[in-house]
Amino acid sequence: MNYRHSYHAGNFADVLKHALLVRLVRALQRKERGFVFVDTHAGRGRYDLSLACEGDSRARSPEWPDGIGRLWGRGDAPHVVAEYLELVRAYDRGQGNLSPQPRFYPGSPRLARLCARPQDRLELWEKHPAECAALRDQFKGERRVSVHEADGYGATLACLPPPERRALVLIDPPFEDMGEWSDITASLGDGLARLPGGTYAVWYPLTDRARAEGFTCMLEAEALPSLAVEMTMDPQAPGMKGCGVVVVNPPWKFDDEARLVLSYLGSVLYRCGAAQGSVRWIVSK
Ligand SMILES: C[S@@+](CC[C@H](N)C(=O)[O-])C[C@H]1O[C@@H](n2cnc3c(N)ncnc32)[C@H](O)[C@@H]1O
Repeated sequence: MNYRHSYHAGNFADVLKHALLVRLVRALQRKERGFVFVDTHAGRGRYDLSLACEGDSRARSPEWPDGIGRLWGRGDAPHVVAEYLELVRAYDRGQGNLSPQPRFYPGSPRLARLCARPQDRLELWEKHPAECAALRDQFKGERRVSVHEADGYGATLACLPPPERRALVLIDPPFEDMGEWSDITASLGDGLARLPGGTYAVWYPLTDRARAEGFTCMLEAEALPSLAVEMTMDPQAPGMKGCGVVVVNPPWKFDDEARLVLSYLGSVLYRCGAAQGSVRWIVSK
């Protein structure tokens, strides 16, 4: 467990994941009935971008300037991205940043909390003790938020089916080891067995090592309605070439929204001629 999200907070991958997350939450909120948001790998929930690379033994440059930094001063975002951007800007201001640069970036639990209605709940899982302590500290006293310092792959068994019978599950692992896909598949399987109609979003990097094909073949074999949203930043990059989010049981018209999100993010974030985005039904609804 060497991974620290602080180094990556607000990068292009966070921007894609979080813009889509806000659309997913809003889609579930089209119905009045509440739902539970389960974040299996929640992180600390709040990131100080001015400390992005502090404490790292490797010399790194911060990643947020090529992510949220590129969107920050713009006023041309379509509605599918504008709400995410406004939430991040308002959060940054609310945390006391007075500079023109972004400083405080909300992680997935905070973004979900900012969108939550009184009838919605959050179940947040984070295994790293220090990250979890920071997360717990942020949400202390909040009745509708539960924080668990535990292996997030157990979250679907523990939290589903919820009393609300509706759930959005985000599975956002660090992909530190090769076993990640089998854990994701098992956890998703547990979730679907308990709540077949839940919406499950899985983030993954596009690297040669962490190939998603086995996972998407499984979704096809099981005939699970699922959509892959991918952003390739540089197909020749030696490490992470881009990233994707697979959504199982995507809400109605989420594919259209994802196309609009990708089209705008592509126009702002791509720096390489071969960069491209795609929205692909793995199994159509
Ligand atoms: C990519 S980050 C999460 C970012 C967060 N979801 C967000 O979007 O703001 C992955 C997190 O998973 C945590 N982690 C690693 N292995 C875990 C496990 N088995 N269960 C729960 N959390 C884990 C790491 O400490 C890290 O904070």
